[in-house]
Amino acid sequence: MTLWKFLHNVETSIILSFQKGIVMRLQKYIASCGVTSRRKAEELIRNKRIRVNGVIIDEMGYVVRENDRVELDNHLIKPDEKMVYILLNKPVGYITTVSDEQNRPTVMDLLKDLDTRVFPVGRLDYNTSGLLLLTNDGQMAYKLTHPKHKVYKTYQVTVQGMVSLPDINKLKNGVDIGHHITAKAFVRIIENRHNRSEVEIKIHEGKNRQVRRMFKAVGYKVIELERTAMGDIKLGRIKSGHYRKLTNKEIEYLRNL
Ligand code: URA
Repeated sequence: MTLWKFLHNVETSIILSFQKGIVMRLQKYIASCGVTSRRKAEELIRNKRIRVNGVIIDEMGYVVRENDRVELDNHLIKPDEKMVYILLNKPVGYITTVSDEQNRPTVMDLLKDLDTRVFPVGRLDYNTSGLLLLTNDGQMAYKLTHPKHKVYKTYQVTVQGMVSLPDINKLKNGVDIGHHITAKAFVRIIENRHNRSEVEIKIHEGKNRQVRRMFKAVGYKVIELERTAMGDIKLGRIKSGHYRKLTNKEIEYLRNL
């Protein structure tokens, strides 16, 4: 091996170790947790406010290793994780959980080439297709699914029979789906034929099987259900079973919700 190649290998392995967080100087580790700058981190160490695995560390050269527990004033600190936001066009026949006792395909099977672990934001039924967001940003997932934030979800619904205008008005004003009267919704007919109708409905609640139960409450059977948007994030033309990362603009929109 040439000297150059040897040095190159050493350098690469150092970079890899740092990236995986295996070894890192304590002050750099604290800064990478987003707690403060590296210079201020040195002050924290000097002032004996940092513990590693329960022991106060006040020396600058201390090296943090993988699985070390680093605390600032008795609070655990961890390096900032890279946030990933995925939009998947979920096909019918997949469940929206990370694993399934009955061994049915899960949406995770469609994300096998993704190197970050993400989890679904809310759920879609086995028989529902369309837009599903997945992320490792727990705070964002909480915000998107909590009823108080009223994020509207848009669905395109195909139902059996011709939907009447009085029934559309009932759906708009709220229907009884069993122990719950649904909140006001935006509903419009896209196409009304003799034996089937296409309807668009926007709701901000997320009760179990809510759209199917709403249509059942006014006497229609849902044949197909597709989620086409969540807030301003649109499914667009992405193929069934495929996914893409959200754009910076979309992420910004979610952050500002
Ligand atoms: N409403 C339903 O009935 N099913 C879904 O998957 C989503 C909303």
